[in-house]
This record gives sequence, structure tokens and C-alpha cells, in this order.
Amino acid sequence: MKCFLSPPLFIIFFTISTLLLTTTAISTITQNQNITDGQTIVSDDQSFRMGFFTPSTRSPNRFFGIWYNRIELITVVWVANRETPLNDTSGVLTLNNEGTLMLLNHANTIIWSSNSSTTANNPVAQLLDTGNLMIRNENDTNPDNYVWQSFDYPGDTFMPSMKFGKDFVKGLDKYLTSWKSVDDPSIGEYTNRFDSNGYPQILLRRGSELEFSSGPWNGLRWSGMPNLKPNEIYTFGFEFNEREVYYKYELVNSSIVSRFILSVDGILERYTWIERSMRWEIYVTGQMDSCDRYGLCGAYGICSINDSPPCGCLRGFEPRFPEEWRRADWDNGCVRKVELDCAAGGDGFVKQSGVKVPDTRRSWFNASMNLEECESECLRKCNCTAYASLNISTGSGCLIWFDELIDMRVYAEDGQDIFVRMAASELGDREARTKRRVIIIVIPVVVSITVLLALCLFVYRKRAQKKNELTGEIRVVPENNFATVNKREDWELPLFEFNTIANATSNFSDELKLGEGGFGPVYKGVLEDGKEIAVKRHSRKSKQGLDEFRNEVQYIAKLQHRNLVRLLGCCIKEGERMLIYEYMPNKSLNSFIFDDGKRKSMDWSNRYKIINGIARGLLYLHQDSRLRIIHRDLKASNILLDKEMNPRISDFGLARIMEGSDTQANTRRVMGTYGYMAPEYMIDGIYSVKSDVFSFGVLLLEIVSGKKNRGFRHANHDLNLLGHAWRLYQNEKHMDLIDDVIKGSYTQSEVNRIIQIGLLCVQNYPEDRPDMTMVVLMLGSEVLLPEPKEPGFYTERRRPQEAESSSSNPEGSSSNHLSVTYMQPR
Ligand SMILES: *[C@@H]1O[C@H](CO)[C@@H](O)[C@H](O)[C@H]1NC(C)=O
Ligand SMILES: *[C@@H]1O[C@H](CO)[C@@H](O)[C@H](O)[C@H]1NC(C)=O
Ligand SMILES: *[C@@H]1O[C@H](CO)[C@@H](O)[C@H](O)[C@H]1NC(C)=O
Ligand SMILES: *[C@@H]1O[C@H](CO)[C@@H](O)[C@H](O)[C@H]1NC(C)=O
Ligand SMILES: *[C@@H]1O[C@H](CO)[C@@H](O)[C@H](O)[C@H]1NC(C)=O
Ligand SMILES: *[C@@H]1O[C@H](CO)[C@@H](O)[C@H](O)[C@H]1NC(C)=O
Ligand SMILES: *[C@@H]1O[C@H](CO)[C@@H](O)[C@H](O)[C@H]1NC(C)=O
Ligand SMILES: *[C@@H]1O[C@H](CO)[C@@H](O)[C@H](O)[C@H]1NC(C)=O
Repeated sequence: MKCFLSPPLFIIFFTISTLLLTTTAISTITQNQNITDGQTIVSDDQSFRMGFFTPSTRSPNRFFGIWYNRIELITVVWVANRETPLNDTSGVLTLNNEGTLMLLNHANTIIWSSNSSTTANNPVAQLLDTGNLMIRNENDTNPDNYVWQSFDYPGDTFMPSMKFGKDFVKGLDKYLTSWKSVDDPSIGEYTNRFDSNGYPQILLRRGSELEFSSGPWNGLRWSGMPNLKPNEIYTFGFEFNEREVYYKYELVNSSIVSRFILSVDGILERYTWIERSMRWEIYVTGQMDSCDRYGLCGAYGICSINDSPPCGCLRGFEPRFPEEWRRADWDNGCVRKVELDCAAGGDGFVKQSGVKVPDTRRSWFNASMNLEECESECLRKCNCTAYASLNISTGSGCLIWFDELIDMRVYAEDGQDIFVRMAASELGDREARTKRRVIIIVIPVVVSITVLLALCLFVYRKRAQKKNELTGEIRVVPENNFATVNKREDWELPLFEFNTIANATSNFSDELKLGEGGFGPVYKGVLEDGKEIAVKRHSRKSKQGLDEFRNEVQYIAKLQHRNLVRLLGCCIKEGERMLIYEYMPNKSLNSFIFDDGKRKSMDWSNRYKIINGIARGLLYLHQDSRLRIIHRDLKASNILLDKEMNPRISDFGLARIMEGSDTQANTRRVMGTYGYMAPEYMIDGIYSVKSDVFSFGVLLLEIVSGKKNRGFRHANHDLNLLGHAWRLYQNEKHMDLIDDVIKGSYTQSEVNRIIQIGLLCVQNYPEDRPDMTMVVLMLGSEVLLPEPKEPGFYTERRRPQEAESSSSNPEGSSSNHLSVTYMQPR
């Protein structure tokens, strides 16, 4: 079986023997019947199977669960003993005569049991065709009388015909909890749960912190999930009455298999099974882009993914702290320009169209009111700040909000209307409107002039540099920062005194200079307490230095991961900017793997550890951090090594926040490093997580081979390293790729996998490349890997014409381990 898995996966590879051991072929368990490890129960229509399984090849833990029976990839939808795994195959599931399912271990200790308040007389347990395991009285098949059912205790999977929500009568709260990792079903960090304060909505939390809100149901869909649309695969609906509140979906044709999960990284994902390719494909995700981060723009802020930066204030509001706001710290949100005056009765409303409505935890509703009644209801209550209709398909019902409005965003389509309360003086203010129009005209003019000026300067400088040598880099000024250079910026970062830094670096002595990047020198320093630091000094002249500085501060200060370099603070003096990092005694990866002397000290286990570390760091950037970040300049010299030789990704000068979870972005300014850039990025300027994956793939092959992709030479052919690896792979000789100095220290199966993963990452078409979730999974488990297709740019040695944009700072030839820019050809 060869399969390609879609991430994030809840897919488990069994030992085939488990499946073959099947003895039971009926769907019920009767009183005192035992299901031992190896036996399974199948639903009547063969859709689901349950029994004991092991989710990981690395741990012996066994769980009792339910999975799809007709799908080749074992995909678990429910697990009984999530928190209490068995460590051997002695487990027994049994139904006692009171109607309780119990899971016993080798010592006959109950490690899990079904929990119900009622008991049964002649109980049977049955696995239904829906994948629901239920316990009932023998002759009573009425669902309302089930003694217990697994659908009341879901794990990470929301199944068709399951009622996801609250049952106020029975006191049930059915919500999703993520798995801890793809091969550990114990309860992870994320929950997705109905909140019935105010008008109900579904809140996704990481621990106790809110990550995403569905918004309230607006009669057609969740206000915050515009991509939930009538479709041919499933129907869906919401029910809310005094007995219960729930959301539910049903498959239109049960021959299509679809499931909805809360992934280990807290993403709501709907998958459908594609039989032809034998894989789960993402059909739709709950969160779409960074605007879906709960409350990103703070109170009275509104997020618009097409704007840069995405956060703005609602009409009639302004940032509470303009300084913070300007440096992209939006948490404190916006405040009214003019206070409300409820007592005078002069307030009115401004209509905001095409939005996701705010968090409804502090809201009130009445389904039978119309919109006019709703408006007067809101006016009557002084703490009411907005109203909207409850059902947008009929325009009926009333939903009103109290106090702060938070978590709003704009949609291109499928948004709804909300009416925001405003002081009388802010209503119909012609002057304000004209002012805005003037601004709308003025800003583009100012921006174009600035851009023009900058371009002139740029061309002038280029001329002045005369004919520079071709360098390995193409770098130009990052986009959209021309017009926004602030003079005063107080960063959130710890600020170091200039004197402290000067002392630490012996007044920036040349002896302590670690290298010289395109944007200025880097020094080693020692603080008074003995802590070693690296100081990146952005030269005063360099406009680029400033942009990169801003970029780096903006991104890296928000990121915390053991595989990312840590920024300790900054220091600003008279326009000169310095960034202070932890010192990395082992410099960068390229000073090892491409160095004839030091290469030998990098044995296979070291290299393997580094590969895994980089993968995790990159996964964090792409998926797990608060922002979705494309690094755009991943290369050996940007991987620093700490004392224990753990890799740390550095240099976020070119990084970009990704706008839109599944889309790509386009830039006219291609920046990056030859040899690492993906074809679609270098040629068309299209970057995405997949262009980072390409660079990662190049890095893998370089680490394995100890050779640089760019500048690679081989006696037999004209290909670069990628082409060389591909050629060897096709001839099944890829073990020849291995760096001679690690022969003897490697594990063949690991190297084999790494090379294949590397080739998968550098495939020509971005859609063929795995994403980092997948890569991490492939690295960490024994999943079968697909066959790689042709790599991108494998014959490429020349500098392509398309990417002629420019290079800059050619003077900065460097061995700077902080790697601002490496200029040596590669
Ligand atoms: C079922 O298992 C329990 C516990 O292992 C044991 O005590 C009991 O005898 C078994 N019953 C049957 C019918 O095998
Ligand atoms: C399983 O765990 C129990 C204690 O929880 C221990 O006594 C037993 O030796 C373990 N079995 C294996 C196979 O590790
Ligand atoms: C089992 O039921 C009891 C009482 O009904 C409740 O307190 C307890 O939390 C339940 N346990 C689980 C795992 O649902
Ligand atoms: C259930 O139905 C069967 C057959 O209809 C009957 O023999 C049995 O006594 C019934 N059991 C109960 C508990 O009513
Ligand atoms: C909203 O209106 C539609 C059309 O009348 C109706 O089918 C639906 O049940 C209503 N939804 C709610 C939540 O009232
Ligand atoms: C469901 O889909 C299958 C395969 O496409 C088709 O043969 C079948 O007629 C469909 N059933 C219904 C009820 O539409
Ligand atoms: C809801 O609105 C209707 C019509 O205005 C009114 O008769 C009813 O009392 C309201 N219900 C509540 C709970 O305020
Ligand atoms: C809003 O004010 C009303 C009285 O005008 C009060 O009953 C209600 O509790 C307040 N609601 C909130 C959420 O503060």
C-alpha cells in the first residue's frame, strides 16, 4: 500500500495482523460478552469497525476506538480510553449487566467505563452504521432512550448526524477536543465548544485562550464561516430552543465519506475521502486567514485581510493608543471619537455592511422582533452598542450587543449588516466624508511620489555601484514600506542602553566582529552579567537596514520557539538601530556542512537532529505561531547552531505574514537566495508556504550530501545538486549522495527517507510538495512516502533573466554568522 496522507492526520497505521485477527462480525455486544485485543466489531452496513489499536509505531500504547471500515487508511473517529492507554494487548472490553461498558487491563482494573446516570435491564451495546456506539435496553431502539452513546462524548471528530452542542435537559455538553499529536489521542490543547452566554456561538480555545469564534448563527450559516455553503456533499443546520442547542450535518449520499475535525494545531477542518488517490482531501477549513484570530484588532477594531496592515477601527472610532497601533500592536483596540450621550437621546446608528458580527457573549436576542423594533430596543438600553437581524435570510429577529464590540472582520462577500451605535454628531457628517475622500486621493499620490523618488535614488545608487560582480543574492527594498518610516518608534522589546552595548562589545571593536552583512556588521558581546550576545548593527545609511530592522522586530519579537533564534532586545541611538540576539557559539550550519575541516564533526545523528529541528521551527512559522509566516530566505547560513547544536532559524528580514490560509502571495520584488528559491517564486514572484518547503528540501539535500546546490559540479552531467540527487534516485543509487565523511555513522533507512523527503519538497509544482505538517509527520513516523516527481530547477545553473530585479550591497562579502546576507556565490 502506497499512500499519500493529507495533514493533519488522524490516521493510524496498524499492524496488519490486527485487522486479520478479526473474529467477530456482528455489530452488537451482549451482557458479559468480552471483546479482547484482536477482536473487532463491525457495524451492520460495514461502515465502521471498532476494537483495539495502536496509533503510533513508536509507542506500544493501545487504545479502544472506532474507525472507518471501508477506507484503506485507518482513520480513527472515536477513542474510549484517551487518557488511560493500555501498554499491552491484555485489554478487554466488556458490558456488565447494568449496561456499563468497561475496559479492563491485565490486572482486571477498570481503566475506562461508559458513564451514564441510568441503568439497563437487558443491555446490549451496538455499533451503529453512523459510527455511534450506544448502549440500550434489548428491545428498545428509540434513540431518546439510549442509556449511553459515544456521540455524547466526542473526541476530535464531529461525525455526520451527531448533535454537536448542549443538551440542557440531560446536562450534556458535546464538544471537540484535539488530540495531543497525530499519534497520541490523549486530550490536546484545543477545544471547540458551544458557548451559550448571550446568543450561542462556537468558541475555539487553546487552553483557556480564545483562538477563534464561529460568530452567531445568522439563519444561513455561522457569521464567521462564510465558506460554509449549501453543497452537494452535506446538508447542515442549527437548532436552538430551551431544551438544546446544537449544530449538525448529514451526508447527502453516504457513499461520500466526509468528516470534520479539530486538528492537533487547532484548525477546524473538513475532509473528504478521495478513493482514487486514497487520501483525505481538505474540503473546507473553519479558519481562513489571520483575520480569523479571535479579537486580533481589539475592541471596536475590524480586520480586513486585503488591507495591509489588516487592522482598522470601525467608522467613528480611532486607535486607543496610536503609537502601539502604528507598530502593529492592536490588542488595545479603538475608542470612540465622540462619546455617546444616551441621556440626551441623540444617538443613532451607522450601518456596517459585509462583516462578521462581533462576539455575542454579551448579547441579547428576540426572535420575533423586526429590525425597527430592534433599533428602538437598542436605543432604549444605554449599554447597547449595536444591533443586527437574527436571521438574515428573512431579515427578522433582533440581536443586540452590549459594551465592547470585538472580533469583527470584513468579508469580500457573504458578510452581513450590523448597525453600530454612534453619537449624533458622528452621523451623516459630510465634512468627515469629504475629508476621507481627500485622503483617498492624497495618499496614493504621496505614495507614488515617494515610490518614484525611492526608485530614482535606487537607480542612481545602482549606477554608482557600476558593474558589480554577480552575487549570489538578489535583494531590494521590501515592498510597501516606502512611505511609512516613523521617526519615533518605541518597540515592545526590551530596550538596551547604548552604553551597555558599547561596553559589551568593547566599543564595537573589530576583534569582536563576527562578520559583515549586507546591512551592517555583527559583533559578539558580553554583558556585565556574563551573558553572551550577538549585536547586529544596522548601518545608518542603509534604508534597507531600516526596513529589515522593522520587519525583524515586528515578526521575530512575537515568535517563541526553541528552533528560532531569540531576539533579546534592541537599541536605538541617533537613528542607528541595533538588534541584540542570544549568541550562538556554533555559528551557522553552512560553516559546518560546507567546511572541509568541520564537516567531519557533523555525524549523521547530528545532521538528523538538525533536520528535525529546522522542520519543527518552520512548522511553527507556517502553522503554529500566532501569525502564519513565510520566511522566504531559508538557507544553510540562516540556520544558526546553539551550544547543543540545536538549529535555530534566523534572519526574518524578508519574512512575510501570509494573508489567507490556503492562498499564496505575489511580489514584484523577488528576494531570496539563488539555489534555494522555488521556481514559481523566482520566476513569477509567487511565494507561499510551499516555496519555503522548497528551500527546506534543498537544505535537506545539502545537509545529507555536504554540498551546495548552487555551484554544484559533477563530471558526468550538467545538473545542479537537485538534478544530481534526482538522477541518482531514479537509478536507485541515491545512497551515493551521502557525504563521504558520514559514511559509517548513518542509518540507511533514515538517510533513505530524508533523501526521498528532500526530493518531495523540491518538486517542481508547489501543489505536489508536502506542507510542513506533512514533512514533520513523514520525518517522525514510518508512513509510506509517495514517489517524488521531477524537481524544480534541476538543470538550472545560470541566473535567469526574469529575476533581474537587482542586487544590492555588493560590498558586504561576509562570514557573518548572523547571516544578514551572504554574498559569496553559491
Ligand atoms: C471476561 O473477562 C473477564 C475479565 O478478564 C473475566 O473475568 C471473564 O471471565 C470473561 N468472561 C468471558 C465470558 O470470557
Ligand atoms: C504495563 O504497566 C504496568 C503498570 O501500569 C506494569 O506493571 C507492566 O509491567 C507494564 N507492562 C509492560 C508490557 O510494559
Ligand atoms: C461521569 O458522571 C458523573 C456523574 O454523572 C460526572 O460527575 C462525571 O464527570 C462523569 N465523568 C465523565 C468522564 O463524563
Ligand atoms: C425482547 O423481544 C424478544 C422477541 O420479541 C422477546 O423474546 C424478549 O422477551 C423481549 N425482551 C424484553 C426484555 O422485553
Ligand atoms: C431563518 O429563516 C429561514 C427562512 O425563513 C428559516 O428557514 C430558518 O429556520 C430561520 N432560522 C432561524 C434560526 O430562525
Ligand atoms: C450515491 O452515489 C453513488 C455513487 O456515485 C450512486 O451510485 C448512488 O446512486 C447515489 N445514491 C443516491 C441516493 O443518490
Ligand atoms: C420579543 O418581541 C416580541 C415582539 O416585540 C414581544 O412580544 C416579546 O415580549 C419579546 N420577548 C421578550 C422575551 O422580550
Ligand atoms: C445593560 O443595561 C441594562 C439596563 O439598561 C441591564 O439590565 C443589563 O444587565 C446591562 N447589560 C450588560 C451586559 O451590562
